[in-house]
Order: sequence, then C-alpha cells, then structure tokens
Amino acid sequence: MVRELNEQKLETFVTRILDDLGAAMTAPLVRIGDELGFYDVLAQSGPTTPQELAHRTGTVERMVREWLSAHAAAGYLDYDAASGRFSMNPEQAMVFGNPDSPVYMLGSFEVCQAVMVDQPKVTKAFRKNGAAGYHERCNCLFSGMARFFGVSYKAHLVQEWLPALDGVVEKLERGAHVADIGCGHGISTTLMATAFPRSKFWGFDNHEGSIACAKDTATRDGVGARTTFEVATAKNFPGDNFDLVCCFDALHDLGDPVGAARRVLQALAADGTFMAVEPRAGDALQDNLNPVGRLYYAGSTMICTPVSLAQEVGLALGGQAGPRRLEAVLREAGFRSIRIAAETPFNIVIEARR
Ligand SMILES: C[S@@+](CC[C@H](N)C(=O)[O-])C[C@H]1O[C@@H](n2cnc3c(N)ncnc32)[C@H](O)[C@@H]1O
Repeated sequence: MVRELNEQKLETFVTRILDDLGAAMTAPLVRIGDELGFYDVLAQSGPTTPQELAHRTGTVERMVREWLSAHAAAGYLDYDAASGRFSMNPEQAMVFGNPDSPVYMLGSFEVCQAVMVDQPKVTKAFRKNGAAGYHERCNCLFSGMARFFGVSYKAHLVQEWLPALDGVVEKLERGAHVADIGCGHGISTTLMATAFPRSKFWGFDNHEGSIACAKDTATRDGVGARTTFEVATAKNFPGDNFDLVCCFDALHDLGDPVGAARRVLQALAADGTFMAVEPRAGDALQDNLNPVGRLYYAGSTMICTPVSLAQEVGLALGGQAGPRRLEAVLREAGFRSIRIAAETPFNIVIEARR
C-alpha cells in the first residue's frame, strides 16, 4: 500500500538533501584550499582578512573572499562580522589544519575528487561487466587514498594494532621479516619500518605508480635501506618465511582474495601471522545504515567493487563485507585461527594464523 505524502517529512528530507548538496559543492573548494595552502596559512595565523590570505598565498583577493565566505557558510571556518576576519577554531584546525591530527581529513576530499573524475568510467562499468580497474583511475585516487588511510595508520598501527597481535611486537623488536601486500604508497610499510629498526620490510602492489611513490616515501623517511618495494600481485608476491604479512584496506579490493590468502599462508613462517586491516562493518546491510556505512558503500560502489570485478575471479567482496564474510574467505584459504584483534570506528584488524 502506498503511504500518503507527509509534508513535514518531505520538508525535513529536502532540507537534509540541501545540506548534502552544500557538502558536495563545497568539496572542490576544500581541494582548492588544500592545493593553494590556504589551510596551512589559516592554521598558523590568527583571524585573517581575505586580503591578507590572498597576499600570503599569492592569490586573487576577490576569489579568496568568495572561498572564505563559502567556508563560513559551511561552518568550516569562523567569521567575525565586526572585524571582517575569518579564523579556524581548534576543532576546525584538527580537521583541516593539522596533518598529525587523528581526524585530519583533507586526503578524504582528494578521494572525493577522484570518484567524481572517474564517475563516467564507473557508469560505463555498470552497463558492461562492472569492471573499472585501479590502474585506469586518476592520480588523485592513489595519493588521496594514501593520505586518507595514512591518518588512521599513523594514529593506530604501531600504538594499538600491532600490540594487539599475539607475540608480534616482540618478534619485530628482535628483528622480523614482514610483507605488506597491496601496500599502495607504502605509508603502513614505512611507519612499521621506522618503529622497528631491527626488522626488514617488503611492500608489494600491482600498481607501478604506487610502488614508485612507496620507494620515495621510504627514502624520505630514512628507512630505504630496510624496505624493498616491488610490483607484484597479492597472489604471486615473492618470498617466504615471513613472520608477519599485512594487508591494509586492500583484501576486499582483490579479485581473488581467497587465492591471495592462500599465497599468504604459504609465505608465512610456521608461527607467522597474517594481519588484515579491513573497513569496519556489520555483517548485514541493516547494520551498516549509518554515516560510516554511507561513506564506505559509496566508496565501494565507485572504487572497491569495480576494481575487484576488473580482476580474475572478481569476487567483489565490497568495502562493507563484514567480519563473517571475511572470516569465511580466510578459512577457505586454509587459516584456522582467526580473530578480530582490534577495532576503531573505521577499521577492524583481523589476526589470522595456521
Ligand atoms: C585501497 S588501496 C590501499 C593501499 C594501501 N594498503 C593503503 O592502505 O594506503 C588498495 C591497494 O591494493 C592494490 N591492489 C589491488 N589489487 C591488487 C592485486 N591483485 N595485487 C596486488 N595489489 C593489488 C591497489 O593497487 C591499491 O594500492
């Protein structure tokens, strides 16, 4: 039976969509501020006029004034009408102005830009076979992804996730061999290499451009001598006897995650550990109808699912596969001891052993 139109609910819904539209329209402005260094200047200076910001960044005052006004309307900056100055309050600074903050979000907007740029490819994929491979995507996806995930790895990987694994930190401190599959720009690999100077690290990814960036990152951070980055798929990466194999936010992107997990099992030392960091999700759709699920299902439609469908097998787990489905993949590959070792609002950390 069709329910009658409820005017009040309609108004509430339209208001909410208006808010979403405003957010979507503001996203390119955030990219502009990021590229032109506006947030850095605003974070470092006190209340600023459009003229001052334009002067300090070598940009056009009239454009800067409009950008600042849009930010004030969005609540992304504060505005003082008496002085005509714009400023970042401490909370806004945590999100836009401090790259070391655990809630720094400028990288996420780079991913938003990437999915808008690549949208025609994904539309085409809907009509064909669902496939839109990672290699076909625009560059801002790769750098955005590294920045987006890097925030979380910086805040949790060494401090919480590795210590949550059984006996792994002790091995890393003594000197262990570690592989990071689907390593992207190698942010996770470099963080671990920096924290554990006696260990050696190998990063593998099938995207050539990302491997080149990973090498640069490791060299920049002074761990180039203990890290090796190679182009390899998750199913055929070289090496064996690893104490730890990691896969950060990539297992669900693989066409054949079962095949990859089988290769991991083969590459692990007898008492080795597989750590799979995956997006946090419940097992059923209805468990994920929340802001995090919203973000991840959208990302999964635009990135994870078509990327997996572009590869052999094309299992397409999706970015919200949920722990039960992920455990089934690992069991099918031959892992017997599987548990969730840690959780954050955005991730689960799965520990899998023989
Ligand atoms: C979502 S990104 C995550 C990258 C990185 N781990 C991070 O957290 O920043 C997924 C990565 O998996 C890689 N990838 C996808 N399919 C792959 C495959 N079959 N073998 C190896 N890497 C793969 C992509 O190139 C990409 O770098």
